[in-house]
Amino acid sequence: METIADIEQLRQLIQGWHRAGERIGFVPTMGNLHEGHLALVKEAKKRGDRCVVSIFVNPMQFSAGEDYDSYPRTLEQDQAILEGAGVDLLFAPSAAAVYPAGNGVQTRVEVPGISDILCGASRKGHFIGVATIVCKLFNYVQPDLAVFGEKDFQQLMVIRRMVTDLAMPIEIVGLKTVREADGLAKSSRNGYLSTDGRDKAPKLYETLKLTAKAIAEGDRDFSRLEANGLEILQTAGFRPDYFTIRRADDLALPSQQDRDLVILAAAYMGTTRLIDNLNAA
Ligand code: PAJ
Repeated sequence: METIADIEQLRQLIQGWHRAGERIGFVPTMGNLHEGHLALVKEAKKRGDRCVVSIFVNPMQFSAGEDYDSYPRTLEQDQAILEGAGVDLLFAPSAAAVYPAGNGVQTRVEVPGISDILCGASRKGHFIGVATIVCKLFNYVQPDLAVFGEKDFQQLMVIRRMVTDLAMPIEIVGLKTVREADGLAKSSRNGYLSTDGRDKAPKLYETLKLTAKAIAEGDRDFSRLEANGLEILQTAGFRPDYFTIRRADDLALPSQQDRDLVILAAAYMGTTRLIDNLNAA
């Protein structure tokens, strides 16, 4: 596996693959790879002839006071993992190469509406940073398909909208969340948790499951279910940001008739912000 930081070098290599008629699968990441990321790599390999992974901790999607500086950067370990997974190319550019004039003056990609609710309401500008970097990465890599995790449900929705609205000829594939044995969604941020926090963290998924079960059994009192969920999380030691039941196709508030639902939650355990979601019907 080759690791490339230089954008021109990347373009040349990929142009060669395109000319040879190869289909390019792409997995964008911020590194500190775990089995969730690897599931995406496996899928990209299955669907394409070449698999490209990017590692770039994107300053533009972090707000002031968030964990940009402390975000785990483990390039050598990640390279070994990707090599073992049979990835063809790792693209790991510097922030100076991606944002030569700084990300403050970078042209922005904004997906309105969907970017302003839930995680976008708590993390102002976050999804503009995500959409902008994913658009740039797509332009560097020119993939035929790109794989994303449903763990970041709202992010996946933002990216699907961007690709549709901007007519990008890229197939977007969403993959189920990969979990620890106790149900906690795998995340690079789990490493921030204290021993006590790690013990309590699976309660987030348990609460989602409990709520999904109630909905499956016919409970349609969404406000009460949400209030219950928040209370369980608080009692378990979380500081919840949101716990909400939405329509899965547009994240709007559901009516009593809607069946394709998703329960989404974000909650702090100590200073670590965890997110998770689960489909319900
Ligand atoms: P990162 O958090 O590194 O995640 C990279 C990809 O892995 C995303 O598509 C995410 O949804 C997926 N992923 C993370 N945990 C997962 C899990 N437990 N199961 C399945 N998939 C999982 O998301 C980002 O980076 C960035 O915002 C990025 C899209 C790279 C833009 O900077």
